[in-house]
Amino acid sequence: MRNLLDIMDLSTDELDSLIKTALDIKDHPEKYADACKRKKLATLFFEPSTRTRLSFEAAMYELGGNVIGFSESSSSSAAKGESVADTVKVVSNYADIIAMRHPKDGAALVAVRNANVPVINAGDGGHHHPTQTLADLLTIYREKGGFRGLTIGLCGDLKYGRTVHSLVYAMSRYEGVNFVFISPEELRFPRYIIDDVLEKNGIPYLETSDLEEAIPKLDILYMTRIQRERFLDLNEYERLKDSYILTPEKLISAKKDMAILHPLPRVNEISVALDKDPRAKYFEQTLNGKYMRMALILKLLGLDGKPSDETEDTVRDVIYDRFKCPNHRCITTTEQELRQEFYSVDEEKGIYRCVYCDTEIRK
Ligand code: NCD
Repeated sequence: MRNLLDIMDLSTDELDSLIKTALDIKDHPEKYADACKRKKLATLFFEPSTRTRLSFEAAMYELGGNVIGFSESSSSSAAKGESVADTVKVVSNYADIIAMRHPKDGAALVAVRNANVPVINAGDGGHHHPTQTLADLLTIYREKGGFRGLTIGLCGDLKYGRTVHSLVYAMSRYEGVNFVFISPEELRFPRYIIDDVLEKNGIPYLETSDLEEAIPKLDILYMTRIQRERFLDLNEYERLKDSYILTPEKLISAKKDMAILHPLPRVNEISVALDKDPRAKYFEQTLNGKYMRMALILKLLGLDGKPSDETEDTVRDVIYDRFKCPNHRCITTTEQELRQEFYSVDEEKGIYRCVYCDTEIRK
């Protein structure tokens, strides 16, 4: 069975093939109108969403399938204290495929381990958001004709913004891509991804807090919202919330064909005055998301006419219950009877990482 927990569950060839299918769906929607007849998608949204949930639902309807689900945890048995594990076990009896969003980091892994239908991670806390990355990739592909050699600037809340985490994993696989991380000191891109992906593979990157200085070299500028709901201290949010506001004046030195992306919702990071700028691609990005989710559903249900490999489980030596995850947003803090699971990153230095949320501890 195939799942999509994080974007690395898909090989580069599979990403390319999803893009191809999405473009074909865009050009020939009628070919796909009955592809998922009598199939059901369950959308389990424990956290607010407009685009992700509605584009999944529109995607399934346009494939001729049906949708069941809930859009807030208060209308599900989670409000009565039901675990994620039990919820997905039950829903596996009602649906052929599940798309789940949850506020806790690592919740998607709990779902994958307990469901017996394919699970798509539609966002787990501040961790991963692979289907937003699919939307981003199709947008970049349509704008730039490919990915090689692009300089991509990621700006805003790079710490808690799950979309940028998944996007860096995906874009790093294409040759010649380099990154400019633009954020306040407090919201820098997670070290574990920099180490795992960029340092390890010698991929060039730059960290700065100066958006205007970075703009002239960028082919893509990916703006993000400061993630209010992930802050423990709301005073800190208040202090950082207006860190970056993109206005037409700031684009004077930008390349004429630089594409501006944003996963949305926007708060005030991009002035509405920019919406008419031909470089603004964020609303097209939402449409691209629907095509990519259609292609993904077909793939995970084995309806894309291609042989489907199993998602390979990452094989690691896991240490149970010796350490406790310090991340207050980790699913292990709320899910009943979930064991603490860590794996060793560097035995000598005593660095371990939580299997669910990737938080590192040093012992
Ligand atoms: C993003 C998310 O939920 O992470 N939204 C989306 O799915 N398009 C970005 C955000 O909420 O800032």
